[in-house]
Amino acid sequence: MSSSIYSVADKARQSRPIDPSEPFDISWVKGKTILITGGASGFGASFFRQWAAAGANVVIGDVDDNKGESIVRAVRIATDNHNLHFIHCDVTNWQSQVNFFKEAAKLSPHGGIDAIVANAGVAELNPTFNKPGQLDVGDPPKPDIRVIDVNLVGVLYTTHLALFYLPRNPGSQPPDPNKNQRKMHESPRDRHLLLIGSMASLYPIPQQTLYGTSKHGVLGLFRSLRSTAFTNGVRVNLICPYFVDTAIITPLGRAVLAGASLAKIEDVVEAASRLMADSRINGRNLVVGPRIKIVQTEEGEWQYSGQEGNEKSTEVSLWEANTDDLENTDVFMRRIVGIMNAAHEMNGWIKWAKDMVRALLLMVKEGPMITSIWRRQN
Ligand SMILES: NC(=O)c1ccc[n+]([C@@H]2O[C@H](COP(=O)([O-])OP(=O)(O)OC[C@H]3O[C@@H](n4cnc5c(N)ncnc54)[C@H](O)[C@@H]3O)[C@@H](O)[C@H]2O)c1
Repeated sequence: MSSSIYSVADKARQSRPIDPSEPFDISWVKGKTILITGGASGFGASFFRQWAAAGANVVIGDVDDNKGESIVRAVRIATDNHNLHFIHCDVTNWQSQVNFFKEAAKLSPHGGIDAIVANAGVAELNPTFNKPGQLDVGDPPKPDIRVIDVNLVGVLYTTHLALFYLPRNPGSQPPDPNKNQRKMHESPRDRHLLLIGSMASLYPIPQQTLYGTSKHGVLGLFRSLRSTAFTNGVRVNLICPYFVDTAIITPLGRAVLAGASLAKIEDVVEAASRLMADSRINGRNLVVGPRIKIVQTEEGEWQYSGQEGNEKSTEVSLWEANTDDLENTDVFMRRIVGIMNAAHEMNGWIKWAKDMVRALLLMVKEGPMITSIWRRQN
């Protein structure tokens, strides 16, 4: 990893690549107040069970009230942890998310929110953009893009609220990739946003155009946020799981996947728990794949070593993606800034003075209240 005063990765407090063989302690989530959208089923429910058992205060929000309330009742009994709650939340509805955050902060024993998982998601049951065009109708019908409302607009609402609440968490600190591991448990207050992408963030899935679009959007959100969220002291991470057997897999999906190896929900929980527990980790994307055995060749390449493997092979399910983006940003910035500086020098002071006069005249015309370098759309 590059390390210099110009390094975007350093400025953004991005932590080192994750070594999945390095142990982490799940008890580091103890006392954290964690919100999970879509927490009544699948991944959300599994995160809820694991973190509740480790002593976290967990509040789940979901549109499915029956499932949400019954899982909270069951896990309270199983864990004897009473700081567990369900609040109705429809992520597509801004006010519903505002209420979810507000009520959760009131229920939090320390009044703050330490971490949020933007997990709620749906798949496309009736793929909108894959239908043949209907040539016999008058005006083309409006497309059904509800998948985008849940998986992308909902995640943007959650992110906006996370960036509002997390920096206000009493006693929390900005992410510190160099923190001493032995002192982790001393400061449970955190400011963590965990986004849930998918393999569909990285490559297309046929018949899931809107799903893929939404999950590419989540990846874009992660990549953009991880270079700016540090200004709020917030750490942001992403997981991108491969297919896992949960309620989201459509009947067609099940038919297509028949016979294939799927990823395991335990590995998704493991990846999310590592990112949740270890507040040194920031700006990382963990891909969770099926468990496979791999072996390193003499040239240093990793290769699949067959179902049974051999004595030299290792079983893996976690991989890192988008590891070098920020370093590439550094190179890009250095190049572009260098070129811009050279152009600036060639233009000389006369061009600068002309541009400045034009900018000042515009300010006089539009008023001095221009606070953004982009023009607003009103
Ligand atoms: N299972 C997989 O193969 C897989 C793979 C990669 C990523 N993911 C992602 O993981 C996340 C969780 O999916 P899952 O597999 O646990 O599915 P799931 O269907 O078991 O759980 C999704 C939960 O989201 C809730 N939800 C749906 N719409 C909502 C809304 N408008 N507001 C609030 N809650 C809403 C559902 O009621 C449900 O409880 C999703 O973002 C999904 O895209 C899943």
